[in-house]
Amino acid sequence: MNYTKCWLDYKKLPEEKIRSSYSHPVLLASGEIAETAAKEYQMAMKEMLGESVEVCYEIMEEPSVCMEVDPEYSFPEEKVKNQSEVILNQSFVIYEEEESVIISGRTEEALLQGVFAFLRMVQLDNLWENLPYCCIPSMPLRMMNHWDDMDGSIERGYSGRSFFYDNYEILYNDRTEMYIRLMASIGINAIVINNVNVHEKETYLITDVYLNQVKQYADLFARYGIKLLMSVNFAAPMELGDVPVSDPLDTEVVKWWEKAVAHLYEVIPNFGGFLVKADSEGRPGPFTYGRTHADGANMLAKVLKPYGGIVVWRCFVYNCGQDWRDKKTDRARAAYDHFMDLDGTFDENVILQIKNGPMDFQVREPVSPLFGGLKKTNMMLEVQIAQEYTGQQIDLCYLIPMWKEILAFDTYGEGEGTTVDKVVSGKTYGQTNCGIAGVINTGDDENWTGNDLAAANLYGFGRLAMDTGLTAEEIATEWCRLSLSDSDDVTEVVTPMLCGSWAAYEKYNAPLGIGWMVTPHYHYGPDVDGYEYDRWGTYHRADLHGIGVDRTMKGTGYVSQYNEPWCSIYADMEQCPEELLLFFHHVPYNYRLKTGKTLIQHIYDTHFEGVEEVEKMQQQWATLKGKVPDRAFECVEERFERQLANAKEWRDRVNTYFYRKCGIPDEKNRKIYE
Ligand code: GCU
Repeated sequence: MNYTKCWLDYKKLPEEKIRSSYSHPVLLASGEIAETAAKEYQMAMKEMLGESVEVCYEIMEEPSVCMEVDPEYSFPEEKVKNQSEVILNQSFVIYEEEESVIISGRTEEALLQGVFAFLRMVQLDNLWENLPYCCIPSMPLRMMNHWDDMDGSIERGYSGRSFFYDNYEILYNDRTEMYIRLMASIGINAIVINNVNVHEKETYLITDVYLNQVKQYADLFARYGIKLLMSVNFAAPMELGDVPVSDPLDTEVVKWWEKAVAHLYEVIPNFGGFLVKADSEGRPGPFTYGRTHADGANMLAKVLKPYGGIVVWRCFVYNCGQDWRDKKTDRARAAYDHFMDLDGTFDENVILQIKNGPMDFQVREPVSPLFGGLKKTNMMLEVQIAQEYTGQQIDLCYLIPMWKEILAFDTYGEGEGTTVDKVVSGKTYGQTNCGIAGVINTGDDENWTGNDLAAANLYGFGRLAMDTGLTAEEIATEWCRLSLSDSDDVTEVVTPMLCGSWAAYEKYNAPLGIGWMVTPHYHYGPDVDGYEYDRWGTYHRADLHGIGVDRTMKGTGYVSQYNEPWCSIYADMEQCPEELLLFFHHVPYNYRLKTGKTLIQHIYDTHFEGVEEVEKMQQQWATLKGKVPDRAFECVEERFERQLANAKEWRDRVNTYFYRKCGIPDEKNRKIYE
């Protein structure tokens, strides 16, 4: 076996923790997902009890663990108020009845989730204190986006190569099964198996060249209650067929899609739908024909509708051929400017997938104003689990605290309390085609995620999508206990280390929300002016007086895309949250922050502190030698060395750059290069 089992590496339970009921599983349900639930139970118990257990199919006399599907199950009133049927059908309960434990859901999918939760709690030794346990998933759709290309590479992949494809062949092996178990165990219910950038050869994924092998994936996913989706190229009718255009209103184009989709569903009846990146970074789209994104998305939606399929349409649409001299065009405005006017015009089976921020997965960005703007459109929040701009799984950057902040952001869309969480979970506007998508960070490395600690982001994404009420600490501790070691000695080091790592990374990175300053194309390591005179719309505008982009009404006007009070708060330098100061304002170096420090001193200080924090994390990790598996220890040890070198490079380049710009020395006289 050349891969780890991550959080599904069940350990033997101490004798005193074993209940006799564990040896008597009963399955009162039929169907392939219910069978999967029973199989998962057996696999886990074999490890935890040290012996095989037989599943029985009728109620027993002795204490048992009873797994049942009860379509009529009525959940406790206070838990299910205002919940949709879609959510209730994914919910489950675990409770005690005499000496037995009952795991019950209305559907097989829900039962499987219940069984994974039960097994997790047994392993964590917190089952009994949690019963009765009722889980109502926060998000209806909990989706993974793979950016795997069919040549076997992964766009923005930092964990080896794809385990789905190699050299335009589809791979299917025991790793595929381990993968899907990992996904199902954290609550994922939809997976897009290919990159949003669908290159020419990859358009063939929806044709007979590959469809039978894709079906193998779809069938496997279905046994775990997970839908398979594919990214498609909007110009497929031209690339694959002999249609001269891909105009969404052209009848030949529609016919082409109808035929392709009919065939797709013939082969894969449980196919989930399409993910589309259109008119974005060189991908084709409806703009070529003077059509709107609603025209494009709705055309595909109508074709998929008879089969129950959905269209996930990305809002990552901006001008990537900008002139850096032009200070009026603002990439941050683009998604809102393109999509806001289309609110209410998308079909019911279209979901707009919106990146968390208006730019592109930077270490710090404001929340996209679309979440507070759109009211009559299905929405999905897109985050990047893959650490493209956040250290590429070399540097430690636990992202759950960031995602928690995003979900908790109050958009004021329907007045106070309209958080992103409520909007994308469907609670604000009553949608059920909505949720959260994550660009996954896996590859064929033995540990799946390059850095063992980066698996906490993967695990945490799923857990958070199931329950946005979990704290970043709870998730970190849970992950650590399941994956690294159950000992308090270890969690006491790892949990705070994970939880502080985003803040540490941010300190040695681009300051106060300005973003970028990275090595062009690769996006690892510093290059302060790397994108400054380029076409991508990602500028910091540093000069001898100050730094930052004026996005107030005097500048690009971006602030006006926010509801009040945010519009006024962001527009006012004094009120603007300081971590976003340079995103919204061009600020003089001698401007005093709330700490009393000048902006330039803050930049110097945070960059020194960031390096010190990395040194501290590295030392703390060293104390875990012998306490966590050797393989993981060595992997992370090596990553910390690289992280430290990276942090120092960031510190020295950023500090030197600004010292040279403004000539103001560090008050503490530390080493800054001249
Ligand atoms: C980023 C990333 C690209 C990716 C794009 C997207 O710009 O660098 O590799 O294709 O996001 O989300 O589509």
